[in-house]
Amino acid sequence: MTRTKIILIAVVGLLIIIQLIPLNQTNPPIIQDASAPSDIKLILKNSCYDCHSNETEWPWYSRIAPGSFLITRDVVEGRKHLNFSEFADMDAFDSTDIADDILEVLEEGEMPILPYLLLHPNASLSDSQIESLVDWANTLYSH
Ligand code: HEC
Repeated sequence: MTRTKIILIAVVGLLIIIQLIPLNQTNPPIIQDASAPSDIKLILKNSCYDCHSNETEWPWYSRIAPGSFLITRDVVEGRKHLNFSEFADMDAFDSTDIADDILEVLEEGEMPILPYLLLHPNASLSDSQIESLVDWANTLYSH
């Protein structure tokens, strides 16, 4: 067997083996969905919910390693920072914190993250959508 063939077989074997690694691609129950006006909700669902809610859509390619590792990590990390499905026991401190964080990522244009936008170009926020989200985030301070 040539060297190239051995390497090829090893790579294919590895790709098959990593498919067997279990992933935490679950959608836990919705504890309390964030309340927001319907136009805001639409933007959040379209651009943020895949990583910041328990209503993640897991497309076929999200199941295939090694890309699945990156996608799963983004969802797990995203939910940890902000989960619109678990807005139930937000006290005044939390909501101030969340408003700060949301305003910051909007200002910096950090969200949605780039790899996601490459796969979901429609999730990109327009200037007017950013403006609406900023106005909404500012209302969270009074909660
Ligand atoms: C593809 C997954 C993904 C999408 C879609 C996404 N985010 Fe995130 N978000 C993350 C990850 C991962 C983190 C944590 C790591 C980081 O800050 O980069 C995060 C962090 C955050 C944080 C916390 C930042 C901080 O400083 O703690 C906020 C707020 C946030 N995202 C808001 C949003 C909003 C608003 C949208 C929609 C416009 C959105 N995200 C879309 C993955 C995502």
